[in-house]
Amino acid sequence: MIHSTIATWLLEGKKVFVRIDGNVPLCEGRIENDFRLRALLPTLEFLSSKKAQITVATHLGRPSPDKKISTVPIAQWFSQAGYPNITVLENLRNDPREKKGDESFAQELAQGYDFYVNDAWGVMHRADCSITKLPLQFPIECRSIGLLVERELQALHYLRHKPQRPYIAFLGGGKSEKIETCLRLIEQELVSTLVLLPGISFTFLKAQGYPIGKSLIDESSIEMCRTIFDKARQKKIDLVLPSDYLIGRLNNGETYGSVCDAHRIPDDAIGLAIGPKTLTQLKALVEQAATIFYNGAMGLPSFPASQQPLYELLEIIAQSSAYSVVGGGDSVAAVERISLEQNISFCSTGGGSTLAYICQIPLIGLSVF
Ligand code: 3PG
Repeated sequence: MIHSTIATWLLEGKKVFVRIDGNVPLCEGRIENDFRLRALLPTLEFLSSKKAQITVATHLGRPSPDKKISTVPIAQWFSQAGYPNITVLENLRNDPREKKGDESFAQELAQGYDFYVNDAWGVMHRADCSITKLPLQFPIECRSIGLLVERELQALHYLRHKPQRPYIAFLGGGKSEKIETCLRLIEQELVSTLVLLPGISFTFLKAQGYPIGKSLIDESSIEMCRTIFDKARQKKIDLVLPSDYLIGRLNNGETYGSVCDAHRIPDDAIGLAIGPKTLTQLKALVEQAATIFYNGAMGLPSFPASQQPLYELLEIIAQSSAYSVVGGGDSVAAVERISLEQNISFCSTGGGSTLAYICQIPLIGLSVF
Protein backbone atom coordinates (compact mmCIF):
# COMPACT_ATOMS: atom_id res chain seq x y z
CA MET A 1 0.00 0.00 0.00
CA ILE A 2 1.28 3.48 -0.89
CA HIS A 3 0.69 5.93 2.00
CA SER A 4 1.03 9.22 0.13
CA THR A 5 0.66 10.32 -3.49
CA ILE A 6 2.23 13.30 -5.19
CA ALA A 7 -1.23 14.57 -6.18
CA THR A 8 -1.96 15.46 -2.53
CA TRP A 9 1.22 17.48 -1.89
CA LEU A 10 1.47 21.28 -1.65
CA LEU A 11 4.42 21.78 -3.93
CA GLU A 12 4.70 25.46 -4.74
CA GLY A 13 8.31 26.56 -4.16
CA LYS A 14 9.17 23.19 -2.57
CA LYS A 15 12.31 21.24 -3.40
CA VAL A 16 11.60 17.79 -4.77
CA PHE A 17 14.20 15.05 -5.21
CA VAL A 18 13.12 12.74 -8.04
CA ARG A 19 14.96 9.41 -8.38
CA ILE A 20 14.65 8.36 -12.02
CA ASP A 21 15.98 5.48 -14.08
CA GLY A 22 17.81 7.47 -16.73
CA ASN A 23 19.99 4.47 -17.55
CA VAL A 24 19.66 4.93 -21.31
CA PRO A 25 21.81 3.33 -24.01
CA LEU A 26 24.72 5.67 -24.80
CA CYS A 27 27.17 5.58 -27.70
CA GLU A 28 30.18 7.90 -27.37
CA GLY A 29 28.21 10.12 -24.99
CA ARG A 30 25.19 10.30 -27.31
CA ILE A 31 21.78 9.01 -26.15
CA GLU A 32 20.78 6.24 -28.57
CA ASN A 33 17.27 5.78 -27.27
CA ASP A 34 15.38 8.10 -24.91
CA PHE A 35 12.33 5.91 -24.15
CA ARG A 36 13.12 5.86 -20.42
CA LEU A 37 13.42 9.66 -20.34
CA ARG A 38 10.22 10.30 -22.32
CA ALA A 39 8.38 8.00 -19.93
CA LEU A 40 9.20 10.39 -17.05
CA LEU A 41 7.65 13.46 -18.59
CA PRO A 42 4.17 13.10 -17.00
CA THR A 43 5.73 13.25 -13.50
CA LEU A 44 8.00 16.15 -14.37
CA GLU A 45 5.17 17.99 -16.08
CA PHE A 46 2.97 17.52 -13.03
CA LEU A 47 5.66 18.75 -10.60
CA SER A 48 6.48 21.75 -12.82
CA SER A 49 2.82 22.67 -13.14
CA LYS A 50 2.70 22.81 -9.32
CA LYS A 51 5.75 25.12 -9.35
CA ALA A 52 8.03 22.69 -7.53
CA GLN A 53 11.81 23.00 -7.79
CA ILE A 54 12.89 19.72 -9.33
CA THR A 55 16.16 17.84 -8.95
CA VAL A 56 16.52 14.52 -10.72
CA ALA A 57 19.07 11.84 -9.94
CA THR A 58 19.85 8.61 -11.73
CA HIS A 59 22.38 5.83 -12.01
CA LEU A 60 23.95 5.41 -15.43
CA GLY A 61 25.65 2.17 -16.44
CA ARG A 62 27.93 0.43 -14.00
CA PRO A 63 30.81 2.84 -13.37
CA SER A 64 33.95 1.94 -11.41
CA PRO A 65 36.36 4.21 -9.47
CA ASP A 66 38.58 4.44 -12.60
CA LYS A 67 35.76 4.71 -15.10
CA LYS A 68 33.10 7.22 -14.11
CA ILE A 69 30.10 7.81 -16.36
CA SER A 70 28.62 11.30 -16.53
CA THR A 71 24.96 12.29 -16.64
CA VAL A 72 25.70 15.41 -18.72
CA PRO A 73 23.88 13.94 -21.79
CA ILE A 74 20.80 13.37 -19.58
CA ALA A 75 20.90 16.98 -18.34
CA GLN A 76 21.15 18.19 -21.95
CA TRP A 77 18.21 16.00 -22.91
CA PHE A 78 15.94 17.49 -20.20
CA SER A 79 17.00 20.98 -21.16
CA GLN A 80 16.19 20.35 -24.84
CA ALA A 81 12.89 18.66 -23.86
CA GLY A 82 11.72 21.97 -22.37
CA TYR A 83 12.87 21.58 -18.76
CA PRO A 84 15.91 23.89 -18.51
CA ASN A 85 15.23 24.52 -14.82
CA ILE A 86 15.54 20.90 -13.74
CA THR A 87 18.78 20.17 -11.90
CA VAL A 88 20.35 16.85 -12.86
CA LEU A 89 22.77 15.38 -10.32
CA GLU A 90 25.88 13.49 -11.37
CA ASN A 91 25.63 9.70 -11.76
CA LEU A 92 24.70 8.30 -8.35
CA ARG A 93 26.80 5.20 -8.95
CA ASN A 94 29.94 7.31 -9.47
CA ASP A 95 29.89 7.28 -5.66
CA PRO A 96 30.46 3.69 -4.42
CA ARG A 97 28.19 4.41 -1.44
CA GLU A 98 25.16 4.25 -3.76
CA LYS A 99 25.56 0.52 -4.46
CA LYS A 100 26.48 -0.13 -0.82
CA GLY A 101 23.21 1.38 0.40
CA ASP A 102 25.26 3.68 2.66
CA GLU A 103 23.33 5.69 5.26
CA SER A 104 25.75 8.67 5.17
CA PHE A 105 25.18 9.03 1.42
CA ALA A 106 21.42 9.04 1.99
CA GLN A 107 21.78 11.83 4.56
CA GLU A 108 23.92 13.90 2.18
CA LEU A 109 21.54 13.44 -0.74
CA ALA A 110 18.46 14.37 1.31
CA GLN A 111 19.91 17.71 2.48
CA GLY A 112 17.63 20.63 1.61
CA TYR A 113 14.78 18.68 -0.01
CA ASP A 114 11.14 18.74 1.11
CA PHE A 115 9.84 15.73 -0.84
CA TYR A 116 11.19 12.50 -2.35
CA VAL A 117 9.69 10.84 -5.44
CA ASN A 118 10.77 7.45 -6.77
CA ASP A 119 9.93 7.21 -10.46
CA ALA A 120 12.79 4.80 -11.19
CA TRP A 121 10.79 1.71 -12.08
CA GLY A 122 13.72 -0.01 -13.79
CA VAL A 123 15.77 -0.08 -10.61
CA MET A 124 13.00 -0.76 -8.10
CA HIS A 125 14.43 -4.23 -7.41
CA ARG A 126 17.84 -2.90 -6.35
CA ALA A 127 18.89 -2.17 -2.74
CA ASP A 128 20.81 0.92 -3.87
CA CYS A 129 21.02 3.81 -1.38
CA SER A 130 18.82 6.22 -3.32
CA ILE A 131 16.12 3.56 -3.66
CA THR A 132 15.97 2.17 -0.13
CA LYS A 133 17.80 4.45 2.35
CA LEU A 134 17.21 7.90 0.89
CA PRO A 135 13.38 7.77 1.02
CA LEU A 136 13.58 6.98 4.74
CA GLN A 137 15.17 10.40 5.30
CA PHE A 138 11.73 11.89 4.54
CA PRO A 139 8.54 11.58 6.63
CA ILE A 140 6.14 9.01 5.18
CA GLU A 141 3.77 11.74 3.98
CA CYS A 142 6.61 13.42 2.04
CA ARG A 143 7.78 10.43 0.01
CA SER A 144 5.99 8.63 -2.78
CA ILE A 145 6.18 6.95 -6.15
CA GLY A 146 5.90 8.94 -9.38
CA LEU A 147 3.39 8.68 -12.20
CA LEU A 148 5.57 6.37 -14.28
CA VAL A 149 5.78 3.83 -11.46
CA GLU A 150 2.00 4.08 -11.02
CA ARG A 151 1.54 3.39 -14.73
CA GLU A 152 3.91 0.41 -14.70
CA LEU A 153 2.10 -1.11 -11.72
CA GLN A 154 -1.24 -0.78 -13.46
CA ALA A 155 -0.06 -2.05 -16.82
CA LEU A 156 1.82 -5.04 -15.42
CA HIS A 157 -0.99 -6.10 -13.12
CA TYR A 158 -2.35 -8.42 -15.84
CA LEU A 159 0.91 -10.35 -16.19
CA ARG A 160 1.26 -10.69 -12.43
CA HIS A 161 -2.18 -12.15 -11.86
CA LYS A 162 -2.74 -15.31 -13.88
CA PRO A 163 -2.68 -14.06 -17.47
CA GLN A 164 -4.30 -16.10 -20.19
CA ARG A 165 -2.40 -19.20 -21.35
CA PRO A 166 -0.44 -20.32 -23.29
CA TYR A 167 1.90 -17.78 -21.69
CA ILE A 168 5.42 -17.62 -23.16
CA ALA A 169 8.29 -15.76 -21.52
CA PHE A 170 11.38 -15.00 -23.60
CA LEU A 171 14.45 -14.25 -21.49
CA GLY A 172 17.88 -13.29 -22.71
CA GLY A 173 20.49 -10.59 -22.39
CA GLY A 174 23.74 -10.38 -20.53
CA LYS A 175 22.62 -10.20 -16.89
CA SER A 176 23.03 -13.72 -15.54
CA GLU A 177 21.11 -12.83 -12.35
CA LYS A 178 18.00 -13.53 -14.47
CA ILE A 179 18.76 -17.25 -14.25
CA GLU A 180 17.47 -17.24 -10.68
CA THR A 181 14.23 -15.71 -11.92
CA CYS A 182 13.89 -18.58 -14.43
CA LEU A 183 13.76 -20.95 -11.47
CA ARG A 184 10.94 -18.95 -9.94
CA LEU A 185 8.97 -18.76 -13.21
CA ILE A 186 9.09 -22.54 -13.36
CA GLU A 187 8.73 -23.49 -9.69
CA GLN A 188 5.67 -21.28 -9.32
CA GLU A 189 4.33 -22.48 -12.70
CA LEU A 190 3.91 -18.87 -13.77
CA VAL A 191 4.43 -19.54 -17.49
CA SER A 192 3.56 -22.34 -19.93
CA THR A 193 6.80 -22.00 -21.91
CA LEU A 194 10.13 -20.39 -21.10
CA VAL A 195 12.39 -19.57 -24.04
CA LEU A 196 16.05 -19.03 -23.14
CA LEU A 197 17.86 -16.69 -25.47
CA PRO A 198 21.47 -15.50 -25.78
CA GLY A 199 23.32 -14.57 -23.61
CA ILE A 200 21.79 -16.50 -20.64
CA SER A 201 21.15 -19.55 -22.85
CA PHE A 202 24.89 -20.37 -23.01
CA THR A 203 25.07 -21.11 -19.28
CA PHE A 204 22.19 -23.59 -19.74
CA LEU A 205 23.96 -25.11 -22.75
CA LYS A 206 27.15 -25.53 -20.72
CA ALA A 207 25.12 -27.11 -17.91
CA GLN A 208 23.99 -29.75 -20.43
CA GLY A 209 27.63 -30.42 -21.29
CA TYR A 210 27.74 -28.83 -24.74
CA PRO A 211 30.60 -26.63 -26.00
CA ILE A 212 29.92 -22.90 -25.96
CA GLY A 213 33.19 -21.54 -27.41
CA LYS A 214 33.88 -18.07 -26.06
CA SER A 215 30.22 -17.24 -25.43
CA LEU A 216 28.98 -15.43 -22.36
CA ILE A 217 28.68 -17.69 -19.34
CA ASP A 218 28.09 -17.50 -15.62
CA GLU A 219 29.96 -20.46 -14.10
CA SER A 220 28.35 -19.83 -10.70
CA SER A 221 24.86 -20.49 -12.13
CA ILE A 222 25.55 -23.83 -13.84
CA GLU A 223 24.21 -25.90 -10.94
CA MET A 224 21.09 -23.73 -10.81
CA CYS A 225 20.54 -24.33 -14.55
CA ARG A 226 20.55 -28.09 -13.88
CA THR A 227 17.96 -27.58 -11.15
CA ILE A 228 15.87 -25.54 -13.59
CA PHE A 229 15.96 -28.36 -16.16
CA ASP A 230 14.81 -30.83 -13.48
CA LYS A 231 12.04 -28.58 -12.18
CA ALA A 232 10.77 -27.88 -15.71
CA ARG A 233 10.52 -31.64 -16.33
CA GLN A 234 8.67 -32.18 -13.03
CA LYS A 235 6.28 -29.30 -13.62
CA LYS A 236 5.85 -30.16 -17.32
CA ILE A 237 6.80 -26.65 -18.41
CA ASP A 238 8.45 -26.32 -21.82
CA LEU A 239 11.97 -25.01 -21.52
CA VAL A 240 13.09 -24.03 -25.00
CA LEU A 241 16.73 -23.52 -25.94
CA PRO A 242 17.83 -22.35 -29.40
CA SER A 243 18.57 -25.12 -31.90
CA ASP A 244 21.03 -22.99 -33.86
CA TYR A 245 23.02 -19.83 -33.25
CA LEU A 246 24.44 -16.94 -35.16
CA ILE A 247 28.07 -17.01 -34.09
CA GLY A 248 30.81 -14.46 -34.53
CA ARG A 249 34.57 -14.61 -34.91
CA LEU A 250 37.06 -11.80 -34.68
CA ASN A 251 39.40 -11.39 -37.63
CA ASN A 252 41.76 -8.40 -37.94
CA GLY A 253 39.55 -6.45 -35.54
CA GLU A 254 36.34 -7.15 -37.53
CA THR A 255 33.57 -9.54 -36.54
CA TYR A 256 32.34 -12.14 -39.06
CA GLY A 257 29.10 -14.02 -38.58
CA SER A 258 27.94 -17.52 -39.53
CA VAL A 259 25.32 -19.99 -38.35
CA CYS A 260 25.99 -23.23 -36.50
CA ASP A 261 24.09 -26.02 -34.77
CA ALA A 262 23.46 -25.15 -31.11
CA HIS A 263 25.46 -28.16 -29.94
CA ARG A 264 28.47 -27.47 -32.16
CA ILE A 265 29.68 -23.99 -31.25
CA PRO A 266 33.37 -23.92 -32.26
CA ASP A 267 35.98 -23.20 -29.56
CA ASP A 268 37.04 -19.87 -31.07
CA ALA A 269 33.50 -18.55 -31.70
CA ILE A 270 31.14 -16.46 -29.64
CA GLY A 271 27.37 -17.04 -29.75
CA LEU A 272 25.65 -13.77 -30.58
CA ALA A 273 22.02 -14.44 -31.45
CA ILE A 274 19.60 -17.18 -32.46
CA GLY A 275 19.82 -18.78 -35.91
CA PRO A 276 17.15 -19.10 -38.65
CA LYS A 277 15.98 -22.60 -37.62
CA THR A 278 15.28 -21.33 -34.10
CA LEU A 279 13.39 -18.34 -35.47
CA THR A 280 11.08 -20.64 -37.42
CA GLN A 281 10.47 -22.76 -34.29
CA LEU A 282 9.75 -19.68 -32.18
CA LYS A 283 7.36 -18.33 -34.79
CA ALA A 284 5.24 -21.50 -34.42
CA LEU A 285 5.24 -21.09 -30.63
CA VAL A 286 4.29 -17.42 -30.77
CA GLU A 287 1.37 -18.21 -33.07
CA GLN A 288 -0.13 -20.38 -30.30
CA ALA A 289 0.47 -17.88 -27.47
CA ALA A 290 -2.19 -15.86 -25.64
CA THR A 291 0.33 -13.91 -23.52
CA ILE A 292 3.95 -13.03 -24.23
CA PHE A 293 6.66 -11.43 -22.12
CA TYR A 294 9.98 -10.53 -23.71
CA ASN A 295 13.12 -9.25 -21.99
CA GLY A 296 16.75 -9.23 -23.08
CA ALA A 297 18.41 -7.97 -26.22
CA MET A 298 20.71 -10.17 -28.31
CA GLY A 299 23.45 -9.33 -30.79
CA LEU A 300 26.25 -6.81 -30.65
CA PRO A 301 25.54 -3.13 -31.39
CA SER A 302 29.04 -2.96 -32.94
CA PHE A 303 28.05 -5.74 -35.40
CA PRO A 304 24.62 -4.68 -36.74
CA ALA A 305 24.00 -7.94 -38.70
CA SER A 306 23.98 -9.78 -35.36
CA GLN A 307 20.95 -7.76 -34.23
CA GLN A 308 18.82 -8.88 -37.17
CA PRO A 309 17.49 -12.05 -35.42
CA LEU A 310 16.32 -9.87 -32.50
CA TYR A 311 14.42 -7.61 -34.88
CA GLU A 312 12.88 -10.61 -36.66
CA LEU A 313 11.76 -12.17 -33.39
CA LEU A 314 10.25 -8.87 -32.19
CA GLU A 315 8.49 -8.59 -35.56
CA ILE A 316 6.96 -12.05 -35.03
CA ILE A 317 5.81 -11.06 -31.53
CA ALA A 318 4.39 -7.76 -32.79
CA GLN A 319 2.36 -9.61 -35.45
CA SER A 320 0.83 -12.02 -32.94
CA SER A 321 -2.62 -11.45 -31.48
CA ALA A 322 -1.32 -12.30 -27.98
CA TYR A 323 -1.16 -9.73 -25.18
CA SER A 324 2.52 -8.77 -25.38
CA VAL A 325 4.86 -6.96 -23.01
CA VAL A 326 8.44 -6.05 -23.87
CA GLY A 327 10.56 -4.86 -20.95
CA GLY A 328 13.98 -3.28 -20.48
CA GLY A 329 15.94 -0.36 -21.89
CA ASP A 330 17.74 -2.27 -24.67
CA SER A 331 14.75 -4.43 -25.64
CA VAL A 332 12.40 -1.46 -25.98
CA ALA A 333 15.11 0.48 -27.83
CA ALA A 334 15.14 -2.37 -30.39
CA VAL A 335 11.32 -2.28 -30.63
CA GLU A 336 11.45 1.45 -31.31
CA ARG A 337 14.35 1.17 -33.78
CA ILE A 338 12.11 -0.88 -36.05
CA SER A 339 8.95 1.10 -35.20
CA LEU A 340 6.98 -1.73 -33.63
CA GLU A 341 5.88 0.05 -30.45
CA GLN A 342 2.28 0.42 -31.67
CA ASN A 343 2.04 -3.35 -32.09
CA ILE A 344 3.26 -4.30 -28.62
CA SER A 345 0.56 -4.19 -25.94
CA PHE A 346 2.86 -2.56 -23.38
CA CYS A 347 6.50 -1.46 -23.42
CA SER A 348 7.90 -1.40 -19.88
CA THR A 349 10.87 0.71 -18.81
CA GLY A 350 11.99 -2.11 -16.49
CA GLY A 351 13.95 -5.21 -17.40
CA GLY A 352 15.00 -6.98 -14.20
CA SER A 353 12.50 -5.03 -12.10
CA THR A 354 9.58 -5.90 -14.38
CA LEU A 355 10.66 -9.51 -14.43
CA ALA A 356 10.84 -9.57 -10.63
CA TYR A 357 7.43 -7.92 -10.39
CA ILE A 358 5.68 -10.37 -12.71
CA CYS A 359 7.38 -13.21 -10.81
CA GLN A 360 5.67 -11.88 -7.67
CA ILE A 361 9.00 -11.08 -6.02
CA PRO A 362 8.52 -8.12 -3.62
CA LEU A 363 10.28 -5.01 -4.96
CA ILE A 364 12.49 -3.53 -2.28
CA GLY A 365 12.04 0.00 -3.63
CA LEU A 366 8.27 -0.17 -3.20
CA SER A 367 8.42 -1.41 0.39
CA VAL A 368 9.33 2.05 1.79
CA PHE A 369 6.10 3.80 0.79
C1 3PG B 1 18.28 -1.54 -16.11
O1 3PG B 1 18.90 -1.08 -17.08
O2 3PG B 1 17.72 -2.66 -16.15
C2 3PG B 1 18.13 -0.68 -14.89
O3 3PG B 1 18.54 0.62 -15.11
C3 3PG B 1 18.90 -1.30 -13.74
O4 3PG B 1 20.27 -1.29 -14.04
P1 3PG B 1 21.25 -2.29 -13.27
O5 3PG B 1 20.93 -3.68 -13.73
O6 3PG B 1 22.64 -1.85 -13.66
O7 3PG B 1 20.99 -2.14 -11.79
